[in-house]
Amino acid sequence: MVTGAHGQVGRCLVDRGADGLTRDDLDLATAGTAEFRATASALLTGDRRPDVMVNTAAWTDVDGAEDPQNRRTVEAVNAVAPAELARVAAAAGVRFIHVSTDYVFSGPAPDGSRGWGADDPVNPANEYGRTKSEGDHGVLDAGGTVVRTSWVWSGPDAPGRDFVSVMATLAENGVDPRVVDDQVGRPTYAPDLAGELWTLARLDGPSGILNITNSGEPVSWYGLAREVFRCTGHDPARVSPCTTRDWPTPAARPPWSVLDLGPWTARSGQTPPDWRDSVRRGLGSRFRLG
Ligand SMILES: NC(=O)c1ccc[n+]([C@@H]2O[C@H](COP(=O)([O-])OP(=O)(O)OC[C@H]3O[C@@H](n4cnc5c(N)ncnc54)[C@H](OP(=O)(O)O)[C@@H]3O)[C@@H](O)[C@H]2O)c1
Repeated sequence: MVTGAHGQVGRCLVDRGADGLTRDDLDLATAGTAEFRATASALLTGDRRPDVMVNTAAWTDVDGAEDPQNRRTVEAVNAVAPAELARVAAAAGVRFIHVSTDYVFSGPAPDGSRGWGADDPVNPANEYGRTKSEGDHGVLDAGGTVVRTSWVWSGPDAPGRDFVSVMATLAENGVDPRVVDDQVGRPTYAPDLAGELWTLARLDGPSGILNITNSGEPVSWYGLAREVFRCTGHDPARVSPCTTRDWPTPAARPPWSVLDLGPWTARSGQTPPDWRDSVRRGLGSRFRLG
């Protein structure tokens, strides 16, 4: 069973056969109420009772989360709901997997260049990261598993906009973008993440924190944009670099979003696909690849 059935990751899990919940089934903004707990409990104990629940639903508008008018909802959806769902799942004997984010970190690369690990102290720089981090704690306290991922995209065939699709469209439309070159991470193709989550749901093992992203060399948004231009047969030199300071946003962004994949590859026995291969795959059906 998966929450966020219409979201990037949730949709891909539903495509694989998961039972999808939308906000009409369970509104995470009502977390903290008896009604929320009763609805969640009915879903996890009734006819639809799953073996595993994956919570992909979240408030993901990072800049919107800074607006004081949204604070209460963001807190309910990202911090309170995951903890309550994890507790209800534990009571129902249902394994609980919660999807979280690199934005719980905000510092430069630990030890100069390694990915963030499960034991690194969190230090969120914005409301989205703070509330997601709170959610992680609640899930762990209830015995659930937290899966942190980064830079999720779905491609032009999926509804909605993501960085890769936007860059591909700019390339096709003759627009030459400036893109930040001082935020580094690993992009994660939503169908790949769903595949890894599906594997995790079927694997026995301890709960706790795991990182799952695509693999490959870390890259900046600028580098990713260049790769999209290159893959779609356009000159990557049309993309120019800028700094985070040139592109101010309401929410601060972390400079280092690379997550350590070691524990997940050891547990699953497989390395997630390289992000470069996934970009080609994700753009393939709509664009003439270069
Ligand atoms: N996107 C990224 O780059 C990224 C990076 C790192 C981690 N993550 C994490 O990965 C997970 C999945 O992200 P995503 O990109 O798939 O997100 P997404 O496409 O924005 O989807 C989020 C889903 O959450 C649902 N939702 C929001 N508020 C809700 C509420 N009050 N009640 C019930 N459902 C609600 C949305 O429902 P509607 O469809 O009705 O709006 C939507 O289906 C999230 O936990 C996110 O924090 C994402």
